[in-house]
Amino acid sequence: MKKRDKESLEEFIKGIPKAELHLHIEGTLEPELMFKIACRNGLDLKYSSVEELRGAYDFNNLQEFLDIYYQGAGVLIKEQDFYDMTWAYLEKAHSQNIIHTEIFFDPQTHTDRGVEFGSVIKGISRALNDARNIFGISSCLIMCILRHLDEDAALKTLNESLEFKHLITAIGLDSAEVGNPPSRFQRVFDKAIQEGFLTVAHAGEEGPSEYVWEALNLLKVSRVDHGNHSLDDDKLVIELASRSIPLTVCPLSNLKLKVVSDMKDHPLKRMIEKGLLVTVNSDDPAYFGGYLNENYLAVAMALDLSKEDIFKLAQNSFISCFAEDNRKREMTEMAAQFYKRFA
Ligand code: ADE
Ligand code: ZN
Repeated sequence: MKKRDKESLEEFIKGIPKAELHLHIEGTLEPELMFKIACRNGLDLKYSSVEELRGAYDFNNLQEFLDIYYQGAGVLIKEQDFYDMTWAYLEKAHSQNIIHTEIFFDPQTHTDRGVEFGSVIKGISRALNDARNIFGISSCLIMCILRHLDEDAALKTLNESLEFKHLITAIGLDSAEVGNPPSRFQRVFDKAIQEGFLTVAHAGEEGPSEYVWEALNLLKVSRVDHGNHSLDDDKLVIELASRSIPLTVCPLSNLKLKVVSDMKDHPLKRMIEKGLLVTVNSDDPAYFGGYLNENYLAVAMALDLSKEDIFKLAQNSFISCFAEDNRKREMTEMAAQFYKRFA
């Protein structure tokens, strides 16, 4: 690609209004803020500097990443810590023309260390409220269950969340996938649905296509997070495409965690060609070397995507989001206007 074409594509990606649907708030904690929060909470980190910590961000698989990610989240103790982390992400999101964001949080990572559930959710929600008022960013919260822990722990967390039900839109499932199939959490998700929550789940990131079937059939998910291995099963692809189940795909995450060995092998284009409803997302941007626009650019360059492809991906993000219908229409129209003006 010529330098001028790349610059024009970059400008298009930067400018187009878009939604982010797969973002772990703990995965936005940049090393600088991690050190600052650790210091004010009187905690020592295993690393002596920001550079040394960044140097450790070299992963061979999901588990190697999770070990460092849970360690990093250990600095978060007070409501203000959760506010500051979330606000830093929202400022970045605003600078990237993200106009709607759906944020995962992992309460068990914090409550297991004695942090109050209320401190976590109040800090995050206050920042989301401020971003709504100051930047006009709409948002919702998705509470993730850690699948490496057991069903009782998940049920306890779901019960704790009920006091804050008005702040939570959906229940998700994340953490170490292989060996922890969605079926382990069917009863938890049944209860979540009874309580009125939507459901989503990470599936087919490292795990097999069977886990995506379980997420659909047992957890009744509205979206599949990642879903890369869905392509191994033609029947599953037909099921996902015919039901318009969105996949929240995370290109730089897939590269950093070696789900793909080269961005040129990323399945996103094949997914689109098979009629799947695909969205682009950043997953854990502080760890994977890029926020949302960097994900769009990396995958667009590697797979030779056009501006029309980017426009469709942005439209998909609005079609797939959990916002109210009138907000969805408004956002879709904003992207269409931008595309018209740019073209
Ligand atoms: N938690 C944070 N990022 C994750 C990912 N990519 N997969 C599973 N769990 C996660
Ligand atoms: Zn994720």
